[in-house]
Amino acid sequence: MNYAKITKAHFEKLVSIVGAEYVSVDQEQLINYGHDETEDFSFPPEILVKPADAKEISSILKLANIEQLPVTPIGARTGLSGGALSIHGGIGLSLERLNRILKIDEKNLQATVEPAVITQVFHDACKEQGLFYPPDPSSWGSCFIGGNLAYNAGGPKAVKYGVTKDYVLNLEVVLPNGDIIWTGANVLKNSTGYNLTQLMVGSEGTLGIITKAVFRLIPYPKHILTLLVPFDAPESACEAVSAVFRAGLTPCAMEFMEREALDWTIPYINDFNITVEANVKAHLLIEVDGNELEVLYKECEQISEIMTAHGSGEVLFADDAAQKDALWKLRRRVGEAVKSHSIYKEEDTVVPRYEMPKLLAGVKEIGARYGFKSVCYGHVGDGNLHVNIVKGEMSDDDWNNKLTAGIREIFQLTKSLGGTISGEHGIGYVQKGYLDIVFSEAEIAIQKGIKNVFDPNGILNPGKVFD
Ligand code: LAC
Ligand code: ZN
Repeated sequence: MNYAKITKAHFEKLVSIVGAEYVSVDQEQLINYGHDETEDFSFPPEILVKPADAKEISSILKLANIEQLPVTPIGARTGLSGGALSIHGGIGLSLERLNRILKIDEKNLQATVEPAVITQVFHDACKEQGLFYPPDPSSWGSCFIGGNLAYNAGGPKAVKYGVTKDYVLNLEVVLPNGDIIWTGANVLKNSTGYNLTQLMVGSEGTLGIITKAVFRLIPYPKHILTLLVPFDAPESACEAVSAVFRAGLTPCAMEFMEREALDWTIPYINDFNITVEANVKAHLLIEVDGNELEVLYKECEQISEIMTAHGSGEVLFADDAAQKDALWKLRRRVGEAVKSHSIYKEEDTVVPRYEMPKLLAGVKEIGARYGFKSVCYGHVGDGNLHVNIVKGEMSDDDWNNKLTAGIREIFQLTKSLGGTISGEHGIGYVQKGYLDIVFSEAEIAIQKGIKNVFDPNGILNPGKVFD
């Protein structure tokens, strides 16, 4: 695709659509909107635009189609696959002004929100009414619901409650040609036509721009109990995980952190006062929730028995809110802590749950062969292992030239175990070169065909998912 450069005429047209206050070519701002949380990439847009609503977005996309201008939707810039990077320059379309919770409908257990509502703000607003919106990615204190939809975000609660897609009923979307549509209906069942709602979820801002979302909610569970379980063998921790589910228990969190994740994150968060003994090589962070405390205590007992049978150390019950908060702060900030420590690349492997020990062992074996270290953590209850590859002692030459082959091996292993290359971070800019590992030519062709139906001129988030 050949894209046009932004001209003075484009600037003026954009000002006439959104108002001068909401168009910027200030270098500092462009740089600020030219990165997300993916490695240290910087791809500033040529011009930053902050529309107020779907109508303005529609006018911008119509202009972009006429003028062949690339448009990159930008949310909270917390993404980990580079989806919000303006890799072709052009228009950076920040959704930040569409930030209202429009309605929480207690009678129908539904809510309608705009895309720039912060996930935790939405969660808390629902909770105030006794309602629960479960998806809780680690970045939930700063990420936007729109980004969660674009990437089908998960998080720790996914293991019991599912991911973003499982809560979406209906979306208002501005299509690349400027048409404004609703994808479904505000109902719990829907067999009416193609499922455009689910097609939009996870489409990484390449098919349209979500301007409103209707979610289903559930009642907020009354109690949550938290366990921290140390293991001196990380593979045993992973083996214990699938045994819990096979025993008929469904925790609402089943998270894994290997020793190095703990060692790097504890000093980073600074106020963690739980001692990690020298022999501990991994921790599982497990939660159960529900309305009957007695039942939950019983479940914790059963889980503890399973853990002990798999060689765990002593199970710690987090007995107060402060201790729970500390544990979750630790878990949620592993990625950030590793990032602060070294040049790194973050992979988001996912396999069927029982295969997790093989994946973990394989990642370490591949790392040993290529000379890279990896810090592994994540949502093992979902078979979703985050692999943070750190440069460590690796030479610049090996890092730049050999690492790709090592990552390919990790992904090939993932695929051979029945898994895939992203569970929740998406493909975006950084993983598109690996798609051939998991999709055949026919499978990629049908996806490209869909993109072409929505966006024949390739103006919307170009260079993401595939070229
Ligand atoms: C997490 C993010 C990186 O689980 O997905 O912390
Ligand atoms: Zn995660």
